[in-house]
Amino acid sequence: MTNEFVKLDIEGPIALITIDRPKALNALNQQVLTELDAAISQIVAHPDARALIITGGGEKAFVAGADIAEMSGYSTTQALAFATRGHAVLARLEALPIPTIAAVNGFALGGGLELALACDLLYVSEKAKLGLPEVSLAVIPGFGGTQRLTRLLGRSRAKELIFTGDPIDAAKAKEIGLALEVLAPEALLPRCKEIALKIASRGPVAVAQAKRAIEAGADLPLKDANELERQAFALLFGTDDQKEGMRAFLEKRKAAFKNA
Ligand code: CAA
Repeated sequence: MTNEFVKLDIEGPIALITIDRPKALNALNQQVLTELDAAISQIVAHPDARALIITGGGEKAFVAGADIAEMSGYSTTQALAFATRGHAVLARLEALPIPTIAAVNGFALGGGLELALACDLLYVSEKAKLGLPEVSLAVIPGFGGTQRLTRLLGRSRAKELIFTGDPIDAAKAKEIGLALEVLAPEALLPRCKEIALKIASRGPVAVAQAKRAIEAGADLPLKDANELERQAFALLFGTDDQKEGMRAFLEKRKAAFKNA
């Protein structure tokens, strides 16, 4: 398969996906979704990847949404298939055991914001504009936006963004807790790589278990979620890395983790 629109670079422990279709502001068409899915498979198969960063190619956009030209003639059946495909790809992204970081370097609208919302951490450039403008097109978010945005920000804020369709700027995104940090455009990727490298230096099995506890626990009653944490905590004491991590602390040296 040719990777025309989705580039995957793996450098040391960091995987970088660039959605690279700048002529259409990196809009997600069927081909982009297929290539993104394939890139996720490559990361799953890569033993050394410890964190993933996703960004947009070109100067203007992270991803400006699902491809409006492609969608415009869809029947209800085709729209259902497209939404199903988008949901499936974003669910696979969300289920990656390694932490994922959205480096939002410009427009993150519609499906673009939904892609960022399927990542664990979201950092934005000063130029970013984020929103779910679907109602302006007389549709609604179709790749999980009504659900992930609501879980992240609460119903009221999500409703405001979804009902008005108005994008917000980077400062507002940080103010409402959508973005973690606002960075100068040239500082965005270096900062995301810095965070990714820090995560990569920690115990990999522990990071994966922490992600699982947070994600799986979020959909459970507190009692069941705490049980999940308790079991995961105990399980980690069966790993070589736990022995190494605690021994290294006691011996006042840096731990050398093996992901085992
Ligand atoms: N789909 C297809 N093409 C798109 C696109 C999209 N979502 N967003 C931008 N493009 C294309 C434009 O059509 C244009 O192509 P041409 O040069 O061939 O005309 C090119 O990218 C550049 O865009 P603009 O000329 O519009 O650039 P701008 O700087 O004037 O405006 C923008 C930028 C405000 C982001 C504007 O492009 C825009 O509003 N885009 C659409 C955003 C949107 O509505 N996204 C939601 C899509 S629906 C969705 O995502 C459903 C879902 O939940 C799954």
